[in-house]
Amino acid sequence: MNETPTRVYAEIDLDAVRENVRALRERAPRAELMAVVKADAYGHGALACAKAAQDAGATWLGTATPDEALALRAAGIEGRILCWLWTPGGPWQEAVEADLDVSVSGLWALDEVRKAAGAAGRTARIQLKADTGLGRNGCQPADWEALVAAAVAAQAEGTVRVTGLWSHFACADEPGHPSIQLQLAAFRDMLAHAEKEGIEPEVRHMANSPATLTLPESHFDLVRPGLALYGVSPAPELGTPAELGLRPAMTLKASLALVKTVPAGHGVSYGHHYVTDAETTLALIPAGYADGIPRHASGRGPVLVGGKIRHVAGRVAMDQFVVDLDGDHARVGDEAVIFGDAERGEPTAEDWARAADTIAYEIVTRIGGRVPRVYLGG
Ligand SMILES: Cc1ncc(COP(=O)(O)O)c(C=O)c1O
Repeated sequence: MNETPTRVYAEIDLDAVRENVRALRERAPRAELMAVVKADAYGHGALACAKAAQDAGATWLGTATPDEALALRAAGIEGRILCWLWTPGGPWQEAVEADLDVSVSGLWALDEVRKAAGAAGRTARIQLKADTGLGRNGCQPADWEALVAAAVAAQAEGTVRVTGLWSHFACADEPGHPSIQLQLAAFRDMLAHAEKEGIEPEVRHMANSPATLTLPESHFDLVRPGLALYGVSPAPELGTPAELGLRPAMTLKASLALVKTVPAGHGVSYGHHYVTDAETTLALIPAGYADGIPRHASGRGPVLVGGKIRHVAGRVAMDQFVVDLDGDHARVGDEAVIFGDAERGEPTAEDWARAADTIAYEIVTRIGGRVPRVYLGG
């Protein structure tokens, strides 16, 4: 897109993504880095961010769904890509033919990938995922022996090669949480068993953003950050992006669609949950929950207009919300920054997360398909 959109748009600074990748690599100097670009790179644009991350030294990309990984390949992205969220009947053969690494959490998945490899006439690259305590995807310790044995047998028949052993943390964003050491110990046990049985993984990995930032003993051969790549703090307790050496990549901007004076006692937006206490100026921001502005931040979300932080007045609606300028002057078309970089005095995704009682992950990831992305530093 050449022209700057006029309603609402997300500026994505690819230099910030590159800088963040470099900063994270410095935090994990002995490990490779897998850039997690699932969910359209947490709303930032998977293709552009994948390229930027590779430019800055990411040797792997990670996606949740096989379709996300296949789309990157189809767009010309080379190099290693791991995808991990599989369901029976998934596109195993396409994945093998597209040279993806695929995650296997159970015998059913191993069976499907073996058959797909046979049909493709190729060896599938698989990574065995261990559930070391998250209780979500991954193979339970009690089932690990059987999965490893089946993978060793499949490796011997030539249908698969195990390229990785991996797991995921439950509470890495709470340093000191007792589950962290328990998960690390379980992972070491499960690694030891697989290696004793003859598996020689290229990469063993466990660390998401918070673990990459705070837990060097979890780095193993590869770190797997997502949110931090985009310059957003995984948890307020860990520090602001600047304190973590990161720079936000997304700035969400809008143009004021209307500015008007209203009298005291005027209700604002659906339900009249906000009523002006004096004559004032209201500015209309042409973005709403259909664009990913959380309705839960009604009455609270911060916006920078005319050099001052204002707050959502009343409810966020589907396509628009209102801020009270407290009598200050502004013009239709003036810029409003919904979130960006605190270092420039802008509200942040973390501020919106607090206002909406959620996590910053959800704020950036839910910025919707109706919001154009404008890339800087491409
Ligand atoms: C399996 C897996 N690895 C890595 C990540 C990246 O996590 P984060 O965004 O906290 O770095 C995620 C994201 O949820 C994930 O599901």
